[in-house]
Amino acid sequence: MTDLVINQQDIIERILTLELVRVTERAAVSSARWRGRGNEKAADQAAVDAMRRELNRLPIDGTIVIGEGERDEAPMLFIGEKVGTKTGPKVDIAVDPLEGTTLCAKDMPGSIAVMAMAQAGSLLNAPDVYMDKIAIGPGYPAGTVDLDWTPEENIRSLAKAKGVKPSEITVLILDRPRHEKLIDACRKAGASIRLIADGDVAGIIFTTQSEKTKVDLYLGSGGAPEGVLAAGALRCVGGQMQGRLLLDSPAKIERARTMGIIDPRKKYDMKELASGDVVVAATGVTDSALVEGVRFHRDVIETETVIYRSLSGTVRRIHAEHREMGKFRLD
Ligand code: FBP
Repeated sequence: MTDLVINQQDIIERILTLELVRVTERAAVSSARWRGRGNEKAADQAAVDAMRRELNRLPIDGTIVIGEGERDEAPMLFIGEKVGTKTGPKVDIAVDPLEGTTLCAKDMPGSIAVMAMAQAGSLLNAPDVYMDKIAIGPGYPAGTVDLDWTPEENIRSLAKAKGVKPSEITVLILDRPRHEKLIDACRKAGASIRLIADGDVAGIIFTTQSEKTKVDLYLGSGGAPEGVLAAGALRCVGGQMQGRLLLDSPAKIERARTMGIIDPRKKYDMKELASGDVVVAATGVTDSALVEGVRFHRDVIETETVIYRSLSGTVRRIHAEHREMGKFRLD
């Protein structure tokens, strides 16, 4: 283990690393109460309320850079909203209080409460548009895959780097009509495809645990905000990721420009999506290979959270038992 030289600022952020767990735990528990009830809006709102409440207790001077939308469309956790007690370090905050709202509403695997925190100015201020993404886990030479290569080229190159045949590569793709050609191309290259209904933050993180998840490569387009959150987690374990915003109308290009994005075709690498000291926390709402969903028992609520920190490369898993005692309520 490397010896870290820790200054005062780092110590504050080390403590904050564990504080993020409380934020995602509360959001997960609140939305899990809506699991399987077919009400996406209520599940999302419950997560947003809980996350915002907890964020405002943190000793940070935080700015939401990825949130629920622009100020005029989102009353809470809007882009630019200030959060925290305003007494601590200046940080960027990216949130997806309920990633996979439909999965939660249908009680299907893969929904999580997720957030990232990084030094101010470190997270790409991504508009809510699609992003073309490619991701692999750690252990491969730089440049093993590239967003501008064909699916066949990426699969062949990854298979070679892994020392297996293309037929032994599994590609994870969001199950969408827009991915029909991509799926065909991957199948023609001999790879096997895992299709997911929703939730590509967890989907991308799956590539970092390919022994367990059997997922080697993520390909396709999903939300740009989700791309930034996933890039933050990947940075902590040494995976590789690239993303390009899909700005396919003058209005989207203009919106991106107002957020500081000058080149609408820019290919971002992982460090441009999430740089600096970044911390990512995700708590399961429903079960997945990443984390278990919330378990409600008679007197105890169980949660599982995974926390990544780029400065140290640490990945922690926190299995918590919550008891509602006295004035202490979880939501
Ligand atoms: P929500 O939680 O906002 O519903 O997002 C779920 C999700 O599947 C993301 O994981 C993904 O990035 C995005 O939607 C894909 O968008 P679309 O459903 O429009 O293809």
